[in-house]
Amino acid sequence: MKILVISTSPRIRSNTMALAEHTINKLTELGAEVEIYSIRAKDHKPCIGCMACMKLKECRIKDDMKDLHQKMKEADGIIFASPIYFYDVNAQCKIIIDRSYAVSPLNGNKVGASLFSAGSLGHSGALKTIETFFSVHGISNVGNVCIYNIKEDMPIAEKSARDLGEKMYKAVEFMKTCDFEPFAQHNHYAYGTHTF
Ligand SMILES: Cc1cc2nc3c(=O)[nH]c(=O)nc-3n(C[C@H](O)[C@H](O)[C@H](O)COP(=O)(O)O)c2cc1C
Repeated sequence: MKILVISTSPRIRSNTMALAEHTINKLTELGAEVEIYSIRAKDHKPCIGCMACMKLKECRIKDDMKDLHQKMKEADGIIFASPIYFYDVNAQCKIIIDRSYAVSPLNGNKVGASLFSAGSLGHSGALKTIETFFSVHGISNVGNVCIYNIKEDMPIAEKSARDLGEKMYKAVEFMKTCDFEPFAQHNHYAYGTHTF
């Protein structure tokens, strides 16, 4: 079982990744192979809207995103770990979401989850963004945990993060038993400017 954690915080001592450690530990204990992909030191240019990917089925921008796209295709589970910036995921995360257009829909009975860290408020916007990503890619979303970095809340946050890891593990196991793709997306390009 391959789980890909996409860490979009630019900070070395990331609060979001401190939370994600608990999910990762649980997944590893259960036997999953977890890879952390950090955006730090990566070259991820924003989407230029050329739409070439609709024909090529890959992005023509030459940067590190190609490697990430391959990892996303191979993963059984994808976890986004993003800090909250202006009530949403950060721009680094949104670039990954936009550029995933080139490999959309990922499908393949993948399972998704998300982890957020905020200073005080605003994770519902991020949730909407990530849920949309999972929906467009036909990925089953098993949940999210958001922390506000309040010391007293950490024990429950850590337990929630571990529980999310267990849920993801079980959901991936379950999805592997399916002989069809119940949540696959097939109909995104059927009309308008998306038709080709
Ligand atoms: C540009 C910027 C925008 C932010 N916007 C929000 C916000 O809208 N709501 C909030 O609660 N915290 C906000 N924060 C605080 C971060 O979400 C918070 O510090 C978070 O724990 C950082 O996570 P990280 O250490 O993983 O990068 C913002 C921080 C930055 C740098």
